Amino acid sequence: MESTVPVLDKTRTASLQPAARIEYTTTRSLEVSREVLRRHRLIAGYEPGPYLDAFKVLRTKVLQILREHGWNALAVTSPNPQAGKTVAAINLALSLALDVSQTVLLVDANLRRPAVHTAFGFTPRYGLADYLLDDVPIERLLINPKGIGRFVILPGSRPLPDSAELLASPKMARLVDELKHRYPSRIVVFDLPHLTTADALAFAPHVDAALLVIEAGRTTQTQLTDALTQLSTTPILGTLLNKAEPLPEP
Ligand SMILES: Nc1ncnc2c1ncn2[C@@H]1O[C@H](COP(=O)(O)OP(=O)(O)OP(=O)(O)O)[C@@H](O)[C@H]1O
Ligand SMILES: [Mg+2]
Repeated sequence: MESTVPVLDKTRTASLQPAARIEYTTTRSLEVSREVLRRHRLIAGYEPGPYLDAFKVLRTKVLQILREHGWNALAVTSPNPQAGKTVAAINLALSLALDVSQTVLLVDANLRRPAVHTAFGFTPRYGLADYLLDDVPIERLLINPKGIGRFVILPGSRPLPDSAELLASPKMARLVDELKHRYPSRIVVFDLPHLTTADALAFAPHVDAALLVIEAGRTTQTQLTDALTQLSTTPILGTLLNKAEPLPEP
């Protein structure tokens, strides 16, 4: 049973940094199949209904907090693996892009298990790892799924087992800074690994805030408490309870 109950709670504060420049004129447009989107639970493959509505509610709450604090870079992570971070990050990004005043960049920053491209059904030639390791220009990585306006993906490519150092590197910090500041109305969503890897913690200082995906029936209280302790210096935008069974009718 697929269901998503977004619940947002507390916030803390963060600051913005100055920017460098990257040109985005060569973003490639790619056909995406509605059937693939639907198979991977992406809202762009769904008709209006409760599934789409859950992410619109999440979008509204997230936008409120981002605007209140002047934030535009958020990470999606979770205490345990396979909680649904990638699906949640993509759907949040898509729902934000549905808001006419926003452009959205979704960055696959899970260098260990990049999966954003798989969910959209394409295999990227280059990804974030190629920029970080081999200086492939960012503009050669960017992809716009056809028919989805105001939405650009910076995909991952080959999996990298030792990625924490790369995510914590000054080069990554400069990239995040550039991505955050290039367009004033843009929100950047980063899909991260789960929090028991060093990666998510290494990357957290780069973003304004994090959204925690909790997996109903699997994330334990201890895992959640540990996650909040680990992220103590990163503002928590809220928690999203994923894979929850709907309550029975009274
Ligand atoms: N709301 C949901 N209901 C049912 N299944 C879901 C839901 N959200 C995600 N899933 C499924 O759970 C699995 C894991 O999802 P996803 O890849 O998004 O998790 P993840 O946290 O990004 O995993 P990883 O730790 O490997 O990065 C996928 O098979 C996905 O289709
Ligand atoms: Mg993932």
